Amino acid sequence: MSDKPSKVTTATLRAMKAQQRRITALTAYDHLFAGLLDEAGVDVLLVGDSVATVVQGRDTTVPVTMDQMVYHCELVARGARRALVVGDLPFLSYQVSIEDALRNAGRMLKEGLAEAVKLEGGVEFAPTVQRLVQAGIPVMGHLGLTPQSIHQFGSYRARGQDDAERQRLIDDARALEQAGAFAIVLEKVPADCGRAVTAAVGVPTIGIGAGPHTDGQILVTPDLLGLFTKFRPRFVRRYRELAKDIGEAVRSYCQDVQQGTFPGPDESY
Ligand code: KIV
Repeated sequence: MSDKPSKVTTATLRAMKAQQRRITALTAYDHLFAGLLDEAGVDVLLVGDSVATVVQGRDTTVPVTMDQMVYHCELVARGARRALVVGDLPFLSYQVSIEDALRNAGRMLKEGLAEAVKLEGGVEFAPTVQRLVQAGIPVMGHLGLTPQSIHQFGSYRARGQDDAERQRLIDDARALEQAGAFAIVLEKVPADCGRAVTAAVGVPTIGIGAGPHTDGQILVTPDLLGLFTKFRPRFVRRYRELAKDIGEAVRSYCQDVQQGTFPGPDESY
């Protein structure tokens, strides 16, 4: 009998929604972490364009390039055995034309070895989603706070806070579903809005700061582990304080080297 865990696919996620089993998702950017997260049983690994802020040290997700996303995606895909690997399409890789979107999403699968792509936006991107799906590329939508549009909105405030915005989100989610998206990330919206959007569509919603009623949850892994400490959105639950642990470990190492206690006899040949 094979010890290979059964692969998570877009069909698995649909079945999980139907069976009311919550979906777990986390971001990953490299092979090492992809393996750890996959082994721990996470259902979806998103190679997020948050790589720009948490790995590249940039202020927003806007500057990360298609080549860089493909690179990170390939590292993650080779580290994941069970989880569904989703590659984030970066800013300007799908907004200029549907042909561009198809070419870039195709690269994410062909070179980045992703099994699906994610893009930000609603009704206005439904034709793009439809074209990608027609070409055999599974698409995850992303609504609510859409960080690639930060310069247009000017703030990271929660979205969907009034009736009009909430209705727009429902319309966007329905348009994405109709276009063939297999799941929708819902970022930073009130919990009742998360519930309303989730009830309005048949595809799974995966929330980040969208309350407990979505079909799944996603967090940025360095946030959850306390590795990224520049700022902490209210929706983050930190399960560890690894930045602190790393600081302590490295200080101990430096001290041991400086005092001549490392390497010891057991660590020498
Ligand atoms: O890039 C990212 O990490 C994301 C998640 C916040 C959903 O899009």
